[in-house]
Amino acid sequence: MSKAGRLVVLVSGSGTNLQALLDASADPSYGARVVAVGADRDGIEGLVRAARVQIPTFVEKLGDYATRAEWDDAIAAKIAAYEPDLVVSAGFMKILGAPTLDAFPVLNTHPALLPSFPGAHGVRDALAHGVKVTGCTVILADAGVDSGPIIAQEAVPVLPGDDEAVLHERIKTVERRLLVDIVGRMVREGWTVSGRTVRIGNQTGGEST
Ligand code: GRF
Repeated sequence: MSKAGRLVVLVSGSGTNLQALLDASADPSYGARVVAVGADRDGIEGLVRAARVQIPTFVEKLGDYATRAEWDDAIAAKIAAYEPDLVVSAGFMKILGAPTLDAFPVLNTHPALLPSFPGAHGVRDALAHGVKVTGCTVILADAGVDSGPIIAQEAVPVLPGDDEAVLHERIKTVERRLLVDIVGRMVREGWTVSGRTVRIGNQTGGEST
């Protein structure tokens, strides 16, 4: 089998999606491994999960920079140092700038069925709207808020009595499985992007057409 694809995973919180990727990559046939974990804040469980398995971590806080552009450059440089084949934004609560987006394919996972309910409160907003079905979406990140081409989606029911936490946990159970599946397939099979259509397979690497 060819060399495992290199993943840099970005987190801002509990890191259960990161953990799912770490667990999957323990099997060499998965085809990808997490080479570094980055965050925009200290003291989060996601960083602890990486340190526990001796994966290097870095933290770049927006507040430590005079401008957003400087932070964009700094985080792109940290990511680049690990030469990723794919960057996975897994619960990372910042929009990445051109220095990262132009250099690497970036995948993002979102806990709603885009283009409905983008942004930081996708679960809360879906619940407030009264939808009966929501879900999760894996996209290729672009410069907008959850606006990139959709790679995969899965539906999750909203049940009577759900609050935000309960519904989010139901979504995350599906989201972790979907993310692991999609990341593995992209790294093993490659992908193409044509307009807003992403196709996995029949390629040896990520290519834009
Ligand atoms: C996920 O639902 C992600 O889509 C959202 O925040 C959650 C992160 O969960 N943006 P975790 O940190 O991976 O546990």
